[in-house]
Amino acid sequence: MIKKVNGFLHGADYNPEQWLDYPEILEKDIELMKKAKCNVMSIGIFSWAKLEPEEGKFDFYWLDNIINKLYENGINTILATPTGARPAWLSQKYKEVLRVSENRVRNLHGQRHNHCYSSPIYREKSGILNSKLAERYSKHPAVILWHISNEFGGECHCDICQNEFKIYLQNKYKDLETLNKAWWTTFWSHTFTSWDQIESPSSIGENQIHALNLDWKRFVTYKTIDFMKHEITTVKKYNSELPATTNFMLYFDGLDYFKFKDEVDIVSFDCYPEWHSEDNVEVGYKTAAFYDIMRSIKGQPFMLMESTPSMTNWQRVSKLKKPGMHLLSSLQAVAHGSDTVQYFQWRKSRGSSEKLHGAVVDHYGKSDTRVFRDVTEVGEVLEKIKNVCNSETKSKVAIVYDWENMWALKDSQGPRNIGLDYNEIVTEYYKVFWDLGINVDFVDMECEISKYDLVIAPILYMIKDGYQEKIREFVASGGNFITTYFSGIVNETDLCYLGGFPGKLMDVFGVRSEEVDTLFDNEENIIELYKNKQEYKCTHICDLIHLEGAEALGEYKSDFYKGRPAITKNNFGEGKAYYITSRNEDSFNREFLSSIINEIGIEKNIDTILPKGVSISKREKENCEYLFIQNYSEEDIEINLDNKEYFNIIKETIVKEKLTIKGYSIEILERKKLV
Ligand code: GLA
Ligand code: GLA
Repeated sequence: MIKKVNGFLHGADYNPEQWLDYPEILEKDIELMKKAKCNVMSIGIFSWAKLEPEEGKFDFYWLDNIINKLYENGINTILATPTGARPAWLSQKYKEVLRVSENRVRNLHGQRHNHCYSSPIYREKSGILNSKLAERYSKHPAVILWHISNEFGGECHCDICQNEFKIYLQNKYKDLETLNKAWWTTFWSHTFTSWDQIESPSSIGENQIHALNLDWKRFVTYKTIDFMKHEITTVKKYNSELPATTNFMLYFDGLDYFKFKDEVDIVSFDCYPEWHSEDNVEVGYKTAAFYDIMRSIKGQPFMLMESTPSMTNWQRVSKLKKPGMHLLSSLQAVAHGSDTVQYFQWRKSRGSSEKLHGAVVDHYGKSDTRVFRDVTEVGEVLEKIKNVCNSETKSKVAIVYDWENMWALKDSQGPRNIGLDYNEIVTEYYKVFWDLGINVDFVDMECEISKYDLVIAPILYMIKDGYQEKIREFVASGGNFITTYFSGIVNETDLCYLGGFPGKLMDVFGVRSEEVDTLFDNEENIIELYKNKQEYKCTHICDLIHLEGAEALGEYKSDFYKGRPAITKNNFGEGKAYYITSRNEDSFNREFLSSIINEIGIEKNIDTILPKGVSISKREKENCEYLFIQNYSEEDIEINLDNKEYFNIIKETIVKEKLTIKGYSIEILERKKLV
């Protein structure tokens, strides 16, 4: 993945600038890094104040020393541009670099990630430092990758941003009349008669024009990428070969990460699941889904840039990982396509807000700790499974995960304003494949879908202009497409489709949704699937549809819509389009999707029945496949293998017929491809 390195990266965020007065600690760090089998450190993420202590006065001496010393000891550097936090002198002298929040109050200096992405001064000042860093280090043999800023996020509502937003809208809509129509501004007399009347959404101003809210979110993604590109262009001037990434966050809905796909060379991800919070199996599949999203963004291996080696310090309750969980959770990322395992952080800070956040090296300072041993074990295993690096993940199934749809849905002010958590609903469908051991890709509305056999779009509330055609063509040419209740309601600017739901796809699905009934949290309805005559609970939303060509595969069993279709199938062209009208219990999803999976002939990664809590994902190379068998339950579990022969890469044994997998553990089996 990264040309300069052969094999996996294993390392951490390293903040040596905090320890420059402790030379013995810096010496010790190198010794410990080698011992923990680390071959990379991310450096400089929050170093601006050390690199440029006064405006225009630079000090790279300490960084030279660190990078060189690490390199002499076989440790690579991922070098950050330090724009995630800035020195006090900069905020003091140039107030405009500070963000203005949605209530139009300018922030004070402090914290981090608190700068205006539009500010020319911020771009100029960060550009100067980034240029100097690139000039000095981008051809250094130790430096393998740019870590652009840190966890981009948030928004600024200053005058410069307001003006940029206006220009963005002018480019998009060209004239005010088009914008007014697209935004349906006649509602509540909100018609704009001059571009200067338009402002970003605010809790003390306009926040009810849904299309404005949506466009603002799109603008925030656009502006953030624009800032990031400014950084990338600056550093690449000095060495266009050195790749760049920026680290994304788990469950972050503020940026449409799919939009970054052409702008970063590698996707990297910071992932802090709450292991042992409730059901580890649930945490397991939800986390797996987000790893799959990260891999899918560029359709290539990604990086686990940050994870905790033990606990965080910002969750409601920050728990330790129980024995086995560190290896399992680290290799889970690899199982889903990561070619790195990295941590926040290498060494615990002595003071300030992260002094008690987990780290590879504790305040104790030595290697005889449980966490250090766990980390070393990951390093050893990554060396053993080196051949897996750069392998591909293939899938015949895609689930639609679309940030714009999520934003629109959240803001829909519809029949149910609670319990329509998009992530929950998407992962409910994902879980079926995770339980069966079938790989899944994720796509947004802009991604190509023709290579898949099955595409599932849960709660596709918004169907962007042009997406109908993509679905229509996919199904017509033999694909299987599943969507659910509350889909095809609005277009790209949040205008409801006229003439019936789901939008212009009524003929593809052969149904028309007339009304949507919502259930209170303590209510439920029942649906019956004709095929197996089983009944299943449904909750939250019940879509009341008419058949307009489709065949009913099941029906509602109670309330005034008893007997009306609850699941439908429509043959359209060469393919099939399914519509599921309610949010159903897991056993329905499993049963229903399994029958479609069997019908299409989608293969499991290993042809076996997996006990609860065990999942199998697969990566492959030309001649062999790597099966990652993961057990998220506490119990040791025996699974039956198919009749093939496997090599257990971690244990270095041949495995046939059965495999016992311990609670909280992972085994990686290699299977030769038949040629
Ligand atoms: C109030 C307002 C109406 C409308 C309804 C919606 O009654 O006067 O304009 O917003 O609420 O329930
Ligand atoms: C984020 C940040 C890190 C650190 C960790 C703590 O991922 O990027 O700098 O604050 O959270 O979990």
